[in-house]
Amino acid sequence: MADALKVGIAGLGTVGASLVRIIQNRANELATTCGRAIEITAVTARDRTRDRGIDISRIQWFDTPEQLAREADIDVFVELVGGAEGAAANSVRAALERGLHVVTANKALLAASGVELAKIAEEKGALLNFEAAVAGGIPVIKALRESLTGNTVSRVYGIMNGTCNYILTRMEKEGLSFADCLKEAQRLGYAEADPAFDIEGNDTAHKLAILTTLAFGTQIAADEIYLEGITNISIEDIRAASDLGYRIKLLGVAQRTESGIEQRVHPTMVPYDSVIAQVDGVTNAVAIESDILGELLMVGPGAGGNATASSVLGDIADIAKSRPGAQRVPVLGTPAAALAPYKRAQMQSHEGGYFIRLTVADRTGVFASIAARMAENAISLESIVQRANPDTAETAKTIILVTHATMEDSIRKAVEAIKSESYLVGEPQVIRIERPKDL
Ligand SMILES: NC(=O)c1ccc[n+]([C@@H]2O[C@H](COP(=O)([O-])OP(=O)(O)OC[C@H]3O[C@@H](n4cnc5c(N)ncnc54)[C@H](OP(=O)(O)O)[C@@H]3O)[C@@H](O)[C@H]2O)c1
Repeated sequence: MADALKVGIAGLGTVGASLVRIIQNRANELATTCGRAIEITAVTARDRTRDRGIDISRIQWFDTPEQLAREADIDVFVELVGGAEGAAANSVRAALERGLHVVTANKALLAASGVELAKIAEEKGALLNFEAAVAGGIPVIKALRESLTGNTVSRVYGIMNGTCNYILTRMEKEGLSFADCLKEAQRLGYAEADPAFDIEGNDTAHKLAILTTLAFGTQIAADEIYLEGITNISIEDIRAASDLGYRIKLLGVAQRTESGIEQRVHPTMVPYDSVIAQVDGVTNAVAIESDILGELLMVGPGAGGNATASSVLGDIADIAKSRPGAQRVPVLGTPAAALAPYKRAQMQSHEGGYFIRLTVADRTGVFASIAARMAENAISLESIVQRANPDTAETAKTIILVTHATMEDSIRKAVEAIKSESYLVGEPQVIRIERPKDL
């Protein structure tokens, strides 16, 4: 049997500790499958004394991730610290510069510096694997980077943040407010004490930026994503969506259009009949539409120690199985030097269906005025319904419009025009509709 693959792990938190446990418990099976043993020879975290429920007494301890990356006797550096900068970024760079293979679950780092790191890896002939960085346990990186080679991808979209999906699911199923569901998610450990990064859509945006590059062969453009979180989704929106045959999900969508690539993260209405609408709770889903294969939808656990460690282990096993010195696949699917510049399609030219919810004074002529504002902007309506407003039943009513495919620019103009009308009460709500290919 070939020499053992020596692995150093930086970060022994939720994912790192699970990874150590799995590798130690399955040493024999892994050696048989990979044709060589996988041996953890170096570890580091912040606190050496913390009880992590794992036995690291016979593994060499390093004081910092950077020191481990520079000095440890290892073949693979596994980064499970997190963060776009600091120890994670410095240690990954140091490991790659040394020609070590790197495995990371760090989407923030890849979104910020993925192309630069891919270049270093490719120059040094090292592998840089990051399956766990997007949708945790779902093998979406491998699908895009390897399995779909030769396909032209037209759209990739998905539910990639378990916290948001958990909140939206509970709001719908139990009629609870956003604030109550967020508190519950925090109590159960599904949401961070500071949840902004998840609920404002930034976490989904990092993952989307990585998928866009793999899908379209363009440079990573994490700063060029249209971003809207779920904080202003109300129970009323969810109920109205349900009445109309939709569910609301936070989607990340990257789409090839005539004017460039659209990258957007926003609450989205998806038809109730679609598979993605049925993805509930902390589960993730990623759909890829391409010309040869058609639509591929992958659903599974998007986070958690074991699910994420499963992807990290798969990446390590790939390295164990590869021939020494043979770089099997470019880090980002296309060689880093050949990635095309990213050309952003403007959000105003996005085309799709829209849901608009307006609270208006209960006066005659309002319905006609709203219809007129839509017609002036050439917006064709699929439906327009009036509902009693439970909070202000006496004085106001709710009007819900669903449009046929329309340009975002037209919707913005129509909504601006309605905003200047005296009958409008409060802010209009606008939610984009996304349809799977055949619905
Ligand atoms: N958790 C998930 O479900 C999940 C899913 C997908 C991807 N990821 C990604 O996986 C990575 C790790 O996530 P996690 O949930 O395992 O995080 P975590 O539980 O917070 O663990 C982070 C680990 O890194 C160590 N650490 C932090 N800063 C350090 C520093 N400056 N120097 C040395 N060690 C440091 C911590 O040490 P101490 O333990 O001593 O504090 C801890 O062991 C992140 O990039 C995350 O985005 C996580």
